Amino acid sequence: MPKMHGEAESAAISTAEEGFAAKPALAGEMGELEESPAGYMELLETFQKLKEENRRRSVALGSAAHQLKTPLAIISGYIDLLLTKKPGKLNERQQQILKESQINCSRLRQYVEDFLSYSALETGMHVLNPLMGNLNECLSELHSYWLPSFQKKGVALYLPSQKQLPLFPFDYDKVQHVVSNLLENALKFTPSGGTVWLTAETYMWERRSRRDVVTGNERRKQADASPNAVRVTVADTGIGIAPEYHQEIFDDFVKLPQEGDPVGGTGLGLAIARRLVLAHNGKIWVESETGRGSTFSFLLPLKTM
Ligand SMILES: Nc1ncnc2c1ncn2[C@@H]1O[C@H](COP(=O)(O)OP(=O)(O)OP(=O)(O)O)[C@@H](O)[C@H]1O
Ligand SMILES: [Mg+2]
Repeated sequence: MPKMHGEAESAAISTAEEGFAAKPALAGEMGELEESPAGYMELLETFQKLKEENRRRSVALGSAAHQLKTPLAIISGYIDLLLTKKPGKLNERQQQILKESQINCSRLRQYVEDFLSYSALETGMHVLNPLMGNLNECLSELHSYWLPSFQKKGVALYLPSQKQLPLFPFDYDKVQHVVSNLLENALKFTPSGGTVWLTAETYMWERRSRRDVVTGNERRKQADASPNAVRVTVADTGIGIAPEYHQEIFDDFVKLPQEGDPVGGTGLGLAIARRLVLAHNGKIWVESETGRGSTFSFLLPLKTM
């Protein structure tokens, strides 16, 4: 299994959440702005305009994606019907063409779903539905769902013996969406012969900024405290990601340049995962080096914090 960083190192981990937090240069700029209320108001106005513009674009994207759904379902239905051979006989070549078309229809359906999720998240229309649930069950289901695709590519997918987890409130479907996006990436970026592990364990989450100094006493107190979160990890032995991209990949529409065959995707999977995890009050991050696999982790608090 690729190297997992320990607690001591966790402060250096880049998280999508912290990416927005402490930028010393910005702190200085904010100080200057406070002294110039006119400049501040102007900046605020520009920010509001951009935010509104962004919202309008997300709504437009969502509605375009929504309109694609019905014709896509009809095309897919007709392909299925032709493949049943009820409307008429098909030769080998025709069957092959229809099967390939069907594969591309599901790919398109996936894009449409991604655009819809993204748009709903951006416009605040995604409502979280957290219910007391069993995370191990949620992950087992995903393991069974994804296993055939992994086997097809010759990548091993393991769900190591599951650790006991307390029941806690989370949105079952949204967490499955996050893990699916991570598994899909692990499959896409791990050459055949590789391995992917999906794990979940309880975790003591110290919510503090990187600059906070933890005293010996506090450290002892934290060590004694019971876990307050669950950590879910998808680790692969794939192509890896250079450290300078560890935050950027969680941004919208970001895909890294890649040698060899181009892989499909719009660069939204991690951006959606990040929003869904943040909606749970959690955090998501990656540990990776080029050529040495990637470990994506996210934390879900056991209690709403
Ligand atoms: N497990 C991984 N190993 C190596 N690179 C990865 C991995 N996961 C993500 N990446 C990099 O991060 C980029 C962004 O990932 P993301 O899931 O957001 O988009 P995508 O997979 O390219 O497209 P989409 O998920 O929208 O179909 C990827 O294009 C890839 O460059
Ligand atoms: Mg992806």
